[in-house]
Amino acid sequence: MRKGILLAGGTGSRLYPMTQVVCKQLLPIYDKPMIYYPLVTLMQANIRDVLIICTPHDLSLFQALLGDGGRWGLKLQYAEQASPEGLAQALMIAESFLAGEACALILGDNVFYGQHLTANLNRAWQTQSGATVFGYHVANPHAYGVIEFNDAGHVLSIEEKPLHPRSHYAMPGLYFFDGRAAMFAKTVVPSARGELEIVDVIHHYLALGELRVDILGRGTAWLDTGTPDAMAEATQFVAAIEKRQGLKINCPEEVAFHNGWITASQLAELAQPLLKSGYGEYLLGLLDKQVFDEM
Ligand code: TTP
Repeated sequence: MRKGILLAGGTGSRLYPMTQVVCKQLLPIYDKPMIYYPLVTLMQANIRDVLIICTPHDLSLFQALLGDGGRWGLKLQYAEQASPEGLAQALMIAESFLAGEACALILGDNVFYGQHLTANLNRAWQTQSGATVFGYHVANPHAYGVIEFNDAGHVLSIEEKPLHPRSHYAMPGLYFFDGRAAMFAKTVVPSARGELEIVDVIHHYLALGELRVDILGRGTAWLDTGTPDAMAEATQFVAAIEKRQGLKINCPEEVAFHNGWITASQLAELAQPLLKSGYGEYLLGLLDKQVFDEM
C-alpha cells in the first residue's frame, strides 16, 4: 500500500491567540477542519495508509476527529512529535511506519486544489527512486523554499526563505521520497533557526542527481494557511468555488466514495449525523448526482 505522512504538529505561533489552545490543523477552512484538505490530497494520490504526526497535546483530538480512518476506507495511525524541531524530524519519527518504503509527506496546513493535480500526484509515484517536489509560481517567493532553475529547466538550488529569491518558484509542502528519506534525515543538523529542515533532506537527492521538480501550473491552487490573512483567503477561495459549483473542495467522504473505498450505503450512513449543517445533504446528494470530473 502507498504510504503517506501528514505533519500536523508545529506551534502555529503566527496564528496566536487562535492556536494557543487548539492547533491550527483543527481550525476550519470554510466548511471543514483544515486537516481534511491535506488528507484528501493524499487520498487523491491513492494513499490509504497514513501516519499523522502531531503534538502530544493534540493527538487525542485528531483521534476523536478522524479515528482509525476506517469509515473513509483509510488506515490512519498517529505518532507524537514531542517538540516542533522541524519537518525532517518527521521522517525519523515515521521510520518504523515507513519500513524503508517510499512515501508522500504533506504539511497539515497546505491546501491543494485543481483539475490536473491527480495527474501530477500519479506522476510523482511512477518514478521508482529519488524524490519529487513541486514548483509553484508565487508573488512572494521569499516566504518559502525557492527553486532556482537553469535555462533547460533543471534544478540548480533550493533555498529556504531567501532574502533575495532566485526565482518566483516556491516549493509547496508536498514531497515524494523513495525509501532512503529517513536515512538522509538522520544526517541533517539543526539550521540557524534551530530546525531540522526538510530542504536539507531534499538537498541529498539534488546532490545525487535524483531530484525531480514537477511544476504545478496555473490550473492548480496551492494555498497555505499559516497566518490569519492566509487562512481568511483560503476560506474565501473555498467558499467562492463551492457556492458557485455546488461541489465541495477536498471532501474526504466524496473522494472515498469516488475511489470505490466506501459503498453508497456507507456514504449515506456517514451523512446522517451531518444533516443539520448541509454537509450531510451534500453527501446524500452525491448518491444520485452525475459529476463528470477527475478527482
Ligand atoms: P510551519 O508553518 O513552518 O510552523 P508552525 O505550524 O509551527 O507555525 P508558526 O510558524 O506560525 O509557528 O509548519 C508547517 C507545517 O508543518 C504545519 O502543518 C505544522 C507542521 N510542523 C510540524 O508538524 N512539526 C514541526 O516541527 C514544524 C516546524 C512544523
